Amino acid sequence: MKEFPLIPRSTSLQKTFSFVHNPIPVMYDYINEYGDSFYLYIGGVKKCLVTSNPNIIRHIMQKNHKNYEKSELQTKMLAQYIGKGLLTSEGDYWFRQRRLIQPGFHKNRIKNLVTLIQDVVDTHLEDLEVHRGKTIDVYPKMLEIAFKVIGNALFSSAASDDELETIESAIFRVQQFIIKRVRQPFMQPLYWIRGDMKKYKNLAQEIEEVILGIIRSRKKLNKQPDDLLGMLINTRYEDTGEPMSEEQLLWESNILFVAGHETSANALSWMLYLLAKHKDAAVRLKNEIDSELGDQALSFEVLMKMPYLNAVIMEAMRMYPPAWISDRVSKKEDQIDGHVIPANTMVLALLYHSHHRDEDWQNPLEFNPDRFLKTKNPNAYFPFGAGPRMCIGNNFAMLEMQIFLVQFIKKFNLDLATETDGTYEALITLKPKNGITLQLS
Ligand code: HEM
Repeated sequence: MKEFPLIPRSTSLQKTFSFVHNPIPVMYDYINEYGDSFYLYIGGVKKCLVTSNPNIIRHIMQKNHKNYEKSELQTKMLAQYIGKGLLTSEGDYWFRQRRLIQPGFHKNRIKNLVTLIQDVVDTHLEDLEVHRGKTIDVYPKMLEIAFKVIGNALFSSAASDDELETIESAIFRVQQFIIKRVRQPFMQPLYWIRGDMKKYKNLAQEIEEVILGIIRSRKKLNKQPDDLLGMLINTRYEDTGEPMSEEQLLWESNILFVAGHETSANALSWMLYLLAKHKDAAVRLKNEIDSELGDQALSFEVLMKMPYLNAVIMEAMRMYPPAWISDRVSKKEDQIDGHVIPANTMVLALLYHSHHRDEDWQNPLEFNPDRFLKTKNPNAYFPFGAGPRMCIGNNFAMLEMQIFLVQFIKKFNLDLATETDGTYEALITLKPKNGITLQLS
C-alpha cells in the first residue's frame, strides 16, 4: 500500500497567513510540489487529506459515499447558525428530509417558476437602465437579484423588501464569522472572550424570527401559493403521513436561502465577466437567442433549445466554480488506487483545482464553451458536487442562470472596465474580489 505525501507541519504553519487570505494559489504550490493528493495540517492543527484528483473526489462523494459523511464544519458548526436542514444534517435524518423535499425540485416543478424568476430579473434589469453608457460594478446587483429570486421562489410576495434585506445582511455577517472560525481555529478562545459567539448567535436568531413570522402567517392560508414554501408546507412524510414541524420548515427555508443565494450570484457575475471579455462568445450567444426565441415569450421549452447558452454557463462554472471546495470524513478505513485512507480522515475536495487540471482539460485556462458541446459529462467536473448529496437546487440554479443570461444579453452589450481583472476571493464560495465592473451599452 502507498502513502499519500505529508506536507511538514512547519511548512503549512509558515503558509497559514497566505492560506487564510488566498487558499487557491497556496494549494497550487503544494500540488506542484507534492502531486494532486497529500496530507496537510490545516492551520497547523488538523491533519487532512487534500485532493484535486477527480477519481478520488468521485470515490468519496459518489462511488463509496456510504463510507463518508460531511465534516462537523459543514454540519454541526453551520447548524448552530442556520439550523439542521438538508445542507447541515447527516445520516437517516438527512436521507428522510432529502426524500421528502427532492420532488419539489424536480424539473417539472421548477418549470413553473419561469415567470416568477423572469419577473425578478426583468425588474432588476430595468433598474440597470440608468447605468447604460456608464460603468457599474454588477456584483452587488447580482447578489440582489439572486437573493430576490430565491426569496420570491420561496415565499412568493409574502416577504417584504425590508424583511429580505434583514435576512440578507444577517446571513452575510454570520457567514463572514463562520469563515473566520474555520480558517483560524486557534483564534477560538478569543471569539468566546470577546463575546463574538453570542453576538452571531443573536444575529442568526434575527433571521429566524423574520422567517418564522412568514411561515406562521402562511400556515394559516387554506391554499398555499405555488412556491417552494408552499411545497414544503404541503409535503408529507411517506411513512407517517405527517407534515414537517414549524422548526423544520424554518431550518429548511433558512438553508435554501444560504445555499441558493451567493452561489448563484457568483455564477452570474463570473458569466458576465467572461462574456464581456470574450466578445465572440457573447455575439454567438446573442445569435442563438435571436434565432431560437425571436419574439416569443420565454419558456422552459425554448430554453432547452439553446445548447450554446447551456455551454456558456457550464464553462463559466468550470472556470469559476462558486462552490470551490467541499469536504467529507471517512467512517471506516478505505482504499483507493492502492492508497489507504484511514478511518476518521477529513478529505478536502478541491473542486476548483480539479476543474483546471491539465490531465483532464485541454487548455484549462482558456474560456471555451465549445468543450461542453462536445462532452456532456466530463469526469473532472463538479460544479454541483456529486453523488446523493449533489446540489438539490441544480435545476433551479440552471434555470435562473439561463433566464438571467437571455434577458441580459437581449438588453445590453457589455465591455470590461479597465479595473476589472477577474481576481477571485475564495471564502465559502468563490467570489469576485474587487467586484465586476462593466460598461453597459
Ligand atoms: C450556481 C449555483 C449553485 C451552485 C454552484 C451550488 C453548488 C452546490 C454544491 C457543490 C453542493 C454540494 C456540496 C457537498 O456535497 O458538499 C450543493 C448542495 C446544496 N445546494 Fe446548491 N448550488 C447552487 C445553487 C443552489 C440553489 C439555487 C439552491 C436552492 C434553491 C441550492 C440548495 C442546495 C442544498 C439544499 C444543498 C444541500 C443538499 C444536500 O446535502 O442534500 N443550491 N450546492
